Amino acid sequence: MPSAELVVASTLGVKSLEECLRTRRSCHDFGWDPLTEQELLGLCWAGQGITGPGGQRTAPSAGAVHPLELYVVAGTGIFHYEPEANRLEQVARGDRRPALCAAAQSQDVIGLAPATLVIVAVEGRMDPRYGARSRHYELVETGHVAQNVLLAATAMGICATPVGALDDSAVRDVLDLPPNHTPLYLVAVGHGADRASIGASR
Ligand SMILES: Cc1cc2nc3c(=O)[nH]c(=O)nc-3n(C[C@H](O)[C@H](O)[C@H](O)COP(=O)(O)O)c2cc1C
Repeated sequence: MPSAELVVASTLGVKSLEECLRTRRSCHDFGWDPLTEQELLGLCWAGQGITGPGGQRTAPSAGAVHPLELYVVAGTGIFHYEPEANRLEQVARGDRRPALCAAAQSQDVIGLAPATLVIVAVEGRMDPRYGARSRHYELVETGHVAQNVLLAATAMGICATPVGALDDSAVRDVLDLPPNHTPLYLVAVGHGADRASIGASR
């Protein structure tokens, strides 16, 4: 598995931040070819990668508590991003993308995306420190993570769209998560349709 530095150097591209900010667009026009593991890892690293000696990450977190987890739902199964190892751990086999699509109001953007990142809040992690304010911080931090992913996708030439219209508990069921894990936001990702390779299966 490549180190975080290698992922940054080889995957995230060389576009300037200004260019990424200028050109980021939600995109619904996905090709059929799947993203590579390294591309998915690069996106996850952008969202939650560890970058500091105290476990600080690419996205800020109130009190550095880090209440969020990242999952990838792809054709081959479901993967959990492990920031410490910078790797994707397979947690389920089989194609759960149709079920995820159904849990997101059957939107084509999820149905057609080769993969979708799921940002999940682990309720209880922040509560000892922030009490009732925790839910607010979880939502704010979800935005930080999603924007990192979207800008990284832009840098990598990957098509990406944030999706907030989802049934939290239905997505929780798709991912087989415990009750205190709340899916908050999805980011559908894939290559643009112009890159579709003939005969590639989903
Ligand atoms: C909080 C939030 C929720 C969104 N939910 C959806 C969604 O459920 N489905 C969808 O296709 N796009 C969704 N989008 C994407 C917006 O439609 C998109 O950002 C908007 O049209 C502006 O286009 P742009 O992202 O290209 O600037 C969402 C965006 C945000 C910020």
